[in-house]
Amino acid sequence: MSTPVLTFFNNKGGVGKTSLIYHLAWMFASLRKRVVIIDLDPQANLTAAFLDEDKIEAIWNQQNEGSTIYQCVKPLTGVGDIAEPVLQNVATDLYLLPGDVSLSGYEDTLSAEWPNSMGDNNLYRPMRILSSFWQVMKMASDKIQADIILVDIGPNLGAINRSVLVATDYVAIPLGADLFSLQGLKNLGPTLRTWKSLWQKRLDNWGDSAENNAYPDFNLPQGQMKPVGYLCQQHSVRLDRPVKAYDKWVQRIPAVYRESVLREEVVDQIRLEDDPYCLATIKHYRSLIPMAQEHRKPIFNLTSADGAIGAHANAVQDAKKDFKRLAEKIAAKMGFII
Ligand SMILES: Nc1ncnc2c1ncn2[C@@H]1O[C@H](COP(=O)(O)OP(=O)(O)OP(=O)(O)O)[C@@H](O)[C@H]1O
Ligand SMILES: [Mg+2]
Repeated sequence: MSTPVLTFFNNKGGVGKTSLIYHLAWMFASLRKRVVIIDLDPQANLTAAFLDEDKIEAIWNQQNEGSTIYQCVKPLTGVGDIAEPVLQNVATDLYLLPGDVSLSGYEDTLSAEWPNSMGDNNLYRPMRILSSFWQVMKMASDKIQADIILVDIGPNLGAINRSVLVATDYVAIPLGADLFSLQGLKNLGPTLRTWKSLWQKRLDNWGDSAENNAYPDFNLPQGQMKPVGYLCQQHSVRLDRPVKAYDKWVQRIPAVYRESVLREEVVDQIRLEDDPYCLATIKHYRSLIPMAQEHRKPIFNLTSADGAIGAHANAVQDAKKDFKRLAEKIAAKMGFII
């Protein structure tokens, strides 16, 4: 698959992953890129941002094959194969494969197949299951000739997220400015490296197997997981904390990112403002967030009719510039031109 897959990842929860993907997806689409969004968080918050509850309930109740990410992979838990994804066209150039609370049930299947995929034989089924998210992404992007695939996941280091990361070309890391985020960042780099190397072992094992010749059309993801940088969130800062405390944590991020994620030795202090790996500092959008959620739009598309007047109108324009800059920066890191 040549369409790049970008995942926002941090095992620390509530750092703004879902909100960022939602806004970036709209921004890429408004820049005339065709976007597929895959909601791989069983909490399905991203799906709830795009679709109203009646629509989601109808999709979940009908349980049609391929209607959610879980309905695409569910046949693999029996004797079947991956179902064709049914995408929701939520706006021009913007397509969603809905999330599903039932997806958490797939965690056990993925865990069970992880050791099986290192055996000497009967490898096709385990490798098919472990790469199933990537196979679905490929089918979805082929369907609409997507330019980019954006993926949202939950905040943990479980088997679902491991399979998503194996399917991921590029990883962006949203962070808050606090001890917990910094600690999460310290775990993240080693986790990505471990997953990458364990997946490589499975690719090699598959390559050496007899079944490899029996399935010439079976493609597998390469498990690139290339870090494109981090984003620092201001909204996760407690308002009752002094500015000094915020600055203290923020200024430690560039060094921890280099040491943990890039495995670079840090000699000089690098300030966040000067750090090329800092993709953006995301502002606290305050009341614009509920306003945007109510109107089911990104912040930067709010109008005076939606209530964005006065200072809000200026903030909307600023958000548009900020997200455009961010989309361009990410696109450049991923090697495609807007
Ligand atoms: N820039 C922002 N300004 C103000 N509030 C924000 C901003 N970004 C996100 N939020 C709010 O912060 C909360 C957490 O955001 P979000 O759900 O995007 O985080 P997440 O990392 O996806 O969380 P989880 O780990 O639970 O999946 C939400 O209530 C969201 O509306
Ligand atoms: Mg989320």
